[in-house]
Amino acid sequence: MEITLSVLKADIGSIGGHIQPSTALTEKVREIIQHKGRKQLIDSRVSWTGDDIAILMTHQQGVGATAIHEMAWEAFLAGTEVARSEGLYGAGQDLLADAFSGNVRGMGPGVAEMTFQERDAEPFVLFAADKTDPGAFNLPLYRAFADPMNTPGLLLSPALTEGFRFVIMDVAHTGKDRVIELEAPEDLYRIAALLRDPERYVVESIWSRHSGQQAVAASTSRLHNIAGKYTGKDDPVMLVRVQKDFPATGEILAPFSTGHFVAGGMRGSHNMPLMPVPLNAGTSYFDGPPIVTGAAFCVHEGKLTDPVDVFAHPFWDRVRDQVADKAMDMRRQGFFGAAMLPMDELEYTGITTTLDGLDERFRIRPDGPEPLRQAL
Ligand code: 13P
Ligand code: 13P
Ligand code: MG
Ligand code: MG
Ligand code: MG
Repeated sequence: MEITLSVLKADIGSIGGHIQPSTALTEKVREIIQHKGRKQLIDSRVSWTGDDIAILMTHQQGVGATAIHEMAWEAFLAGTEVARSEGLYGAGQDLLADAFSGNVRGMGPGVAEMTFQERDAEPFVLFAADKTDPGAFNLPLYRAFADPMNTPGLLLSPALTEGFRFVIMDVAHTGKDRVIELEAPEDLYRIAALLRDPERYVVESIWSRHSGQQAVAASTSRLHNIAGKYTGKDDPVMLVRVQKDFPATGEILAPFSTGHFVAGGMRGSHNMPLMPVPLNAGTSYFDGPPIVTGAAFCVHEGKLTDPVDVFAHPFWDRVRDQVADKAMDMRRQGFFGAAMLPMDELEYTGITTTLDGLDERFRIRPDGPEPLRQAL
């Protein structure tokens, strides 16, 4: 049976700052999806990661379907009403358009979707991150789909040895999408040359070259491209099909033990390590650290199993300790150097006002010795 998996995610308000949504808000979103989805959807799950709500849906209307996106938009609007009534922080933060038009791309919410013919067994993982941006998935995807040091399946499974096609988007480009298709392993160094710049080049999808099947769909929206100013972080989601012609579940989880530095901590302006956390975890230290959750499912005829919380296993406690140490190490240097994002990312924040104000106070020093300053 051909089905579509759609995950749409938005921050529509949270308790105590940018920490986590309220139960009433989450329940409202769930209620609307269950009620309105009765005709449109086969199944759905609503979860949260930090202050972001993710709606996972299975259906047969394909990618970018207006009815599916509109339903999610309406659920986010209803959740925003609850957020307002409870005085939650940042109510409706990611709903950047006044009215729904066609589909939610470019309207604020993150979207990852794919349509495929269900395999007899169809395992997949939904990853959702908070306090970071879509480039956060570049490193784990490169490792899992292109690096045999991480993924022994690239050596041990002939289907994987044929490699994967990476579709990479230039997220700095405004207007129509600017994308490139590159093949691993032949284009490995070209893929690396792009993915090393995660604020600009982001993996949009990955495809098996053996079967032509899609393995990965990831969200690519950068909110500052939509709003033109700082409106919170992009907080990406992605769907990864696993096993058989794709990496094993453990091969896609392994790279998250790195706790790699990602953009987006505190006010969307800092590099901080990405911490894998259990489902429905909030944020804390320094409005973070940036977190990622993973929910593993199987789907059959569109019906989802219960999720398995992949980062709840005791193994990840030790990773979390190491990531916490990394986070505190980075914070020791405050705003200096690599701790804070470069100016081209900060230009969407208020710092430009301060710098503009200083601009007119700069002067060009005349040639010759500087006269001694008068004592005040
Ligand atoms: P099982 O025998 O537990 O299915 O092992 C499969 C495997 O090797 C996964 O990496
Ligand atoms: P989000 O609201 O996008 O999670 O991020 C806000 C922020 O940067 C808090 O410091
Ligand atoms: Mg928020
Ligand atoms: Mg968030
Ligand atoms: Mg956000």
